[in-house]
Amino acid sequence: MAVRAVLCVLLGLHCSVFCSPVPRVSVCGYESCPATKPKMLNVHLVPHTHDDVGWLKTVDQYYYGGRNDIQHAGVQYILDSVVAALQKDPARRFIYVETAFFYRWWKQQNPSTRRVVTQLVEQGRLEFINGGWCMSDEATTHYSAVIDQMTLGLRFLNDTFGECGRPRVAWHIDPFGHAREHASLFAQMGFDGFFFGRLDYQDKARRMKAREMEMVWRASQSLKPPAADLFTGVLPNGYNPPPGFCWDQSCSDAPVQDDPDLDDYNVDMLVATFLNIASAQAQVYKTNHIVMTMGSDFQYENANLWYKNMDKLIRYVNAQQANGSVVNVLYSTPSCYLQELHLANLTWPLKTDDFFPYADDAHDFWTGYFTSRPALKRYERLSNSLLQTCNQLEVLGGAKSRSGPFGEGHSDTMKRAMAVAQHHDAVSGTERQHVAYDYAKRLATGWAHCQVLVRNSLAVLSGSDVPRVFCENLNISVCPLTEGSKKFSMNVYNPLARVVTWSVRLPVNGTSYSVTDSNGKEMDSQVIPVSKATQDLRRDRGYAKYELVFEVQAPPMGYTTYSVTLLKAHPARAPTTPKAPASMQNKYLKVTFDPATGLLSGLTNLETQQSIQLTQNFYWYNASGGDAESRQASGAYIFRPNSSTPISINQNPNISTLQNSVVQEVRQQFSPWVSQVVRLYNGSRELELEWTVGPVPVADGLGKEVITRLDSNISSAGYFYTDSNGREVMERRKDYRPTWDLKQTEPIAGNYYPINSRAFIKDGRNQMTVVTDRSQGVSSIYNGSLEIMLHRRLLHDDVRGVEEPLSEPGEFADGLVVRGRLLVMLTPPETAADMHRPLAQGMVLQPMLSFQEGALPRNAKLEFSGLQAALPPAVHLLTVSQWSNDSVLLRLEHQYESSESKTYSLPVTVNLQKLFSTLEIVGVSEMSLGANQWKEDMKRLQWKPSTGDDMKPVGGGLGDPTPWEITLQPMEIRTFLLRVQRR
Ligand SMILES: *[C@@H]1O[C@H](CO)[C@@H](O)[C@H](O)[C@H]1NC(C)=O
Ligand SMILES: *[C@@H]1O[C@H](CO)[C@@H](O)[C@H](O)[C@H]1NC(C)=O
Ligand SMILES: [Zn+2]
Repeated sequence: MAVRAVLCVLLGLHCSVFCSPVPRVSVCGYESCPATKPKMLNVHLVPHTHDDVGWLKTVDQYYYGGRNDIQHAGVQYILDSVVAALQKDPARRFIYVETAFFYRWWKQQNPSTRRVVTQLVEQGRLEFINGGWCMSDEATTHYSAVIDQMTLGLRFLNDTFGECGRPRVAWHIDPFGHAREHASLFAQMGFDGFFFGRLDYQDKARRMKAREMEMVWRASQSLKPPAADLFTGVLPNGYNPPPGFCWDQSCSDAPVQDDPDLDDYNVDMLVATFLNIASAQAQVYKTNHIVMTMGSDFQYENANLWYKNMDKLIRYVNAQQANGSVVNVLYSTPSCYLQELHLANLTWPLKTDDFFPYADDAHDFWTGYFTSRPALKRYERLSNSLLQTCNQLEVLGGAKSRSGPFGEGHSDTMKRAMAVAQHHDAVSGTERQHVAYDYAKRLATGWAHCQVLVRNSLAVLSGSDVPRVFCENLNISVCPLTEGSKKFSMNVYNPLARVVTWSVRLPVNGTSYSVTDSNGKEMDSQVIPVSKATQDLRRDRGYAKYELVFEVQAPPMGYTTYSVTLLKAHPARAPTTPKAPASMQNKYLKVTFDPATGLLSGLTNLETQQSIQLTQNFYWYNASGGDAESRQASGAYIFRPNSSTPISINQNPNISTLQNSVVQEVRQQFSPWVSQVVRLYNGSRELELEWTVGPVPVADGLGKEVITRLDSNISSAGYFYTDSNGREVMERRKDYRPTWDLKQTEPIAGNYYPINSRAFIKDGRNQMTVVTDRSQGVSSIYNGSLEIMLHRRLLHDDVRGVEEPLSEPGEFADGLVVRGRLLVMLTPPETAADMHRPLAQGMVLQPMLSFQEGALPRNAKLEFSGLQAALPPAVHLLTVSQWSNDSVLLRLEHQYESSESKTYSLPVTVNLQKLFSTLEIVGVSEMSLGANQWKEDMKRLQWKPSTGDDMKPVGGGLGDPTPWEITLQPMEIRTFLLRVQRR
């Protein structure tokens, strides 16, 4: 303090904040919490605002308060107003949650405002809670992107405010159901507790009765407790104030009118009402502390209204203590409330399942958004893949990757766009159409900036600055370079830490090509005709007649190069035949078809000699528009079919077949708007189902929710399995919830669950696993059956605020067409994970292709790996990202659960010094998962569950042989900051 005072004098600064007469000490965190009264019921008022990072308006419109005709909301005014109101009284508190907004605001503040805000933060009066860039959706996000978005927000807070900016509490007051993996990630990020607002209404009723609104969530079946234990609290009233006490400018409750001489004096009435509400609430919670959320969506634009009335409420309610009242009201924060719960030293019920699906009434299941906006969901997933590649190439290419032969490139735009896209109205698909376009536009700008970086980096690594193009429309067979070129090369960059084999299909117009790998070895390649379905889908965006198909293999965290040359020869090609083969097979898999219909009829794993009957088809549920039982319609959030029997589209699709040495395809056209390719590559152990759905016709006045259903003879007995945010697997059971007696009121929608990467069914002998390319809704309604919702087009709004029917126009305004892939495999249950884990990671982090016209320079480096060797199969390279000029953030993940694989569910050790081929590691510090705390400083509050294992705290890093050799336990993620030098 003395030093600072002198500095102020020397610099002649006007700094009343810095040079205040009282010594300025930072007492943020739990020490800054207000005093409470141990013998009373303490009511913690938590002033807060819920600021969606895009929903009815774009994130920037919300920030500035633009387009107030759509919704009155302006976050910049909220922060201006709250900072002024907090300065007026040191007792006042506020929490802020969404760093995407705070970052925008902070950039624009002058030094004196920044000093004021810093002081408020350092005194715990303004507290950051959650602290990610956004409040992520929990059903449709993948853990890799969730960790990234939290890291981005938490890093800004630490860089700006240091330790006082570190949130203690995770706060997901609005997401529509809660994933166990999110809780696990929050625990690993060092959060002491977690609060949310929404849970199933039946669950809530039971918890209120049993006083189980607060619990310990054991969020991992693999990590040793308490590593993934998270204290979790259900808020009493969603995230709203109690009825009658909303004093925002957007509310119409009466203010505290406290002059007895004036009309409408209401203090006695308000105090009495408040005391009633408080004592009713205390009945359903366990301690003499309760919490009230004083705020809601975009509130506090005029903070004075809230604070002036809450000041009075506190004064008048507490004045009653003189008359014997035992209620004590105070300004507080979620962490201060949490601290009191911790001091209560109680045991708490243990929760081990999750909070899906979420229903807020008997016919109101929020299970539609698992699939809503399937194209945005896929684009978000692809963008994650590109971002990880971009991050890796930024590290591998060094400074020249950001400023090199192709200009200035960087990963920041993509990091922010991806972080915004994790918001619970972004990838969830529950935003307005114009906002969905805005999310996609941000991602597209991110791609452009990353692509410059990638071009620069690959130029450095390969020694060739021949211009490089990316073909983003390969899924509809469009790529101008390959279509027109007589000679080109293709770079395949693989972001995974193991060798990857992949099949590519490139649009071409020649009939015969020579394809050679980086050693000049000729590859087996085939030219096949572009399907009618693809031609219809791409319309006039491309004209390729053929696809060139071949298998590629790329080194770990590196690239290889293939050269393609047009040949003059016109080889005889096997024609397509207009009926299904009896079967197609390679050395791993045999797929049989019903000769009468051309539909799948069976699957055999030739390695394990196991076989199942398997049929597959497409159906649609007729979306309810509301009926006599309930007015609830299907919409962006809610799934509500008007019948439990879906409508079959066609039992006899048009069929064409082709078979060659590289690929075998059965092309099925079910209707003008549904088609599929059943595809078996020569080298693959899984069957690919490439589906194309849309434009979904709605001229008949019926909204449609399109599913594909796989029906097998597996005796699944009502059980099925879904992943949680792409990581651990959850067991599901039809018409059943593990923690309460379910009264099932929607036999279809009430059995849907989110998947991010996979689902499976099994019996003692067979497991059928389906790996998906984006987040979707899934269920198993019949024994042996698995259904996946692919696309939805609806005619009604579902009355959850979005006020738009979910009917995406698509590029040609006649309805969105979506194409995607499912990978199906059949294995014994014991070895299924050995296959679906790497396959799913490969679907998430897929190779990036780039193309160069003509021949490459003779000295170009055709193959490169950033690793000295592939990592062990159990280890996933989750993050490699430049942190500062000489440091790199590294995350290594054990990608198996503790008991799912005989081969891989074992601890595995990696030597960091032997990791990279071009970087030498000169220093290592371990961090929390969110990278905002050193691991050694991470000390979380410990909580006692009423049942469950003994709670001996265990650190990460158990049993590292040396500081350089780190051991990963099943499902463990370890985060390191590496200081590096180029070799
Ligand atoms: C907390 O409760 C346990 C019994 O469950 C008791 O042994 C312990 O002393 C208590 N701790 C404090 C700080 O009161
Ligand atoms: C947090 O930020 C401070 C500077 O504000 C820095 O010194 C510290 O290393 C950061 N902590 C972590 C874990 O990055
Ligand atoms: Zn929200």
